[in-house]
Amino acid sequence: MKIVIVTGGSRGLGASTAIECARKGMGVIITYNSNLEKADEVVRTIVENGGQAVALKLDVGDVGSFAGFHEAVAAQLRFVWRRGDFDYLVNNAGYGLFNPIASVTEEQFDGLFNVHLKGPFFLTQIMLPLMADGGQIINITSATSRVATAGIAPYAAFKGGLEVLTRYMAKEFGDRRIRANSIAPGAIRTELAGGLNDEFEMMLAGQTALGRVGEPEEIGGVVASLLSGENRWINAQNIEVAGGYII
Ligand SMILES: NC(=O)c1ccc[n+]([C@@H]2O[C@H](COP(=O)([O-])OP(=O)(O)OC[C@H]3O[C@@H](n4cnc5c(N)ncnc54)[C@H](OP(=O)(O)O)[C@@H]3O)[C@@H](O)[C@H]2O)c1
Repeated sequence: MKIVIVTGGSRGLGASTAIECARKGMGVIITYNSNLEKADEVVRTIVENGGQAVALKLDVGDVGSFAGFHEAVAAQLRFVWRRGDFDYLVNNAGYGLFNPIASVTEEQFDGLFNVHLKGPFFLTQIMLPLMADGGQIINITSATSRVATAGIAPYAAFKGGLEVLTRYMAKEFGDRRIRANSIAPGAIRTELAGGLNDEFEMMLAGQTALGRVGEPEEIGGVVASLLSGENRWINAQNIEVAGGYII
């Protein structure tokens, strides 16, 4: 059984990714930041459908906590799966914040940077020795790095940085046959940045060739399928999954 770690697996795209991966027969370790109840719900859904999953707490913005997380993962791998390694890492955790460049504070900038770029960088670094050769990394980026949307500049810039980092991961980890790709969702119906109100949703739907916003499982399904081994020559790519957003 392949084992995947999905950060921010308690809600939204991460929860859907975890459920879709379990459906494809993977063992799943999800992380949550504060929402233990939602994380437990995801684990329950997976287990009730015959899969295996555990939830661990992780603040992706707190690099100092990563050594403890590494230990916790190693313990769960031994205890639940009798293994000393895992196969896939999905760097998904994140949050949104609307504020124009003119009024972004240093604290807001640093918070977004820590979770969206520094966190995935150092989490991948510390988890890499525990990842099996031939593994995969999927970073969740965003279509907002391609199309400028006023009010989310630091977020989009760090997602753009994560897209570049993905190519460097593919370059540096290829000797262990570890692939790295990123998935860039367009607007998806989740609780990100407080969710979509009707007006915002209509605007985004109007900018999308398929005429609607996406649903979480439309991202989770792509991540699970990319991990499932049917796409083993795809490497170092940023794949936009957005229904044709501003084309
Ligand atoms: N939804 C979209 O339209 C969209 C589009 C493009 C990209 N994305 C990206 O997709 C990813 C998932 O977003 P989503 O829409 O699923 O958001 P969401 O529904 O708000 O879920 C966010 C998840 O990330 C976790 N999280 C937030 N801050 C964290 C932190 N500091 N440390 C660890 N975990 C943290 C949350 O944990 P708790 O439940 O414990 O709070 C939750 O599991 C993000 O990276 C986002 O930028 C989303």
